[in-house]
Amino acid sequence: MRAVQFNEYGPPGVVHVADIEEPHAGPGRVRIAVRASGLSAGEALIRSGAYRDAVHMTFPYRTGVEAAGEVDEVGEGVTGVAVGDAVFGLTSMEERTANADFAVLAAWAPKPAAWSWEEAGGAAGAVETATRVLDRLGVGAGQTVLVQGAAGGTGSVAVQFALARGAAVIGTAGERNHDFLRALGATPTTYGPGLVERVRALAPNGVDAVFDCARGALPDLIAIAGDPSRVVTIADFEAPAHGVHLSHSAPTDDEGRPLLPGADPMALHGLGIAVALADEGRLRIPVAEAFPVTEVAAAHELSDTRHARGKIVLTH
Ligand SMILES: NC(=O)c1ccc[n+]([C@@H]2O[C@H](COP(=O)([O-])OP(=O)(O)OC[C@H]3O[C@@H](n4cnc5c(N)ncnc54)[C@H](OP(=O)(O)O)[C@@H]3O)[C@@H](O)[C@H]2O)c1
Repeated sequence: MRAVQFNEYGPPGVVHVADIEEPHAGPGRVRIAVRASGLSAGEALIRSGAYRDAVHMTFPYRTGVEAAGEVDEVGEGVTGVAVGDAVFGLTSMEERTANADFAVLAAWAPKPAAWSWEEAGGAAGAVETATRVLDRLGVGAGQTVLVQGAAGGTGSVAVQFALARGAAVIGTAGERNHDFLRALGATPTTYGPGLVERVRALAPNGVDAVFDCARGALPDLIAIAGDPSRVVTIADFEAPAHGVHLSHSAPTDDEGRPLLPGADPMALHGLGIAVALADEGRLRIPVAEAFPVTEVAAAHELSDTRHARGKIVLTH
């Protein structure tokens, strides 16, 4: 089958489609024939070499943690899903390889009828991340939340999840994305110098929680929240120096403890919440652009701009 991989760090051109052996669904897993899968901004950063000192890996590195398609193998012990069902979901952290013709999923939910395959393929990672971070921040009705980097693949889903909890949302983006944020239901403002003052003017009674989907602005974000414990970042490796939690996820043991030190438990319950919201017409997955899997290098080029509006998706 075709699968996306890279064998070295470098520019988008190092990413290519390879012909590899098909995986099969082991116990507790399903295999899908992939219709669409999401490009991970984090994996594009890994490819660039930005994390080469922080994240140990071996080559070939096979990419993709989220996909949607029809189930074509059901592993031992799996109930409630059958061959032919349309689902979206996540691979395990170790298996990855979702940017491929067949993907083995460790967590999944039925594909909402309202979503295209492209939306479903790009949904699961942002859904899990948004749920995990909003849970950790304790975001609920009546609160005001700032989402930094709100127009991106993760931010645009975080905005909708926070609104669905009954919070008011201020989102930062470049000006060309302000109408897009308004359409999602957020109040837009620009990131960069003057952010603290702009947000204070928009939220005179204060901001209860800050969800940072970008990086490089933690001092301002702490000033806005009033306390580092009310800021969570998914993207800023400087977080510990500022007393801010950097959230990344890991599967859990039988007692619900994450299997990786410092990680948060994966918020897989978010997949079910996403289905319910989508069925009510309250959650869309904005797709920045869908590329045929053979054009994955162009998809990485778009990710590298850091200005994709929504999720970058590969079609199979
Ligand atoms: N730890 C985790 O669990 C986890 C999970 C998912 C993602 N991540 C990380 O989170 C980050 C965001 O992921 P993503 O999928 O949302 O990426 P993305 O889609 O590539 O994000 C693009 C967005 O970033 C905004 N942006 C660019 N520069 C910015 C700046 N200086 N300040 C604020 N916003 C800026 C852009 O806004 P404009 O175009 O409007 O300028 C654009 O909408 C990545 O670093 C990714 O690796 C971590």
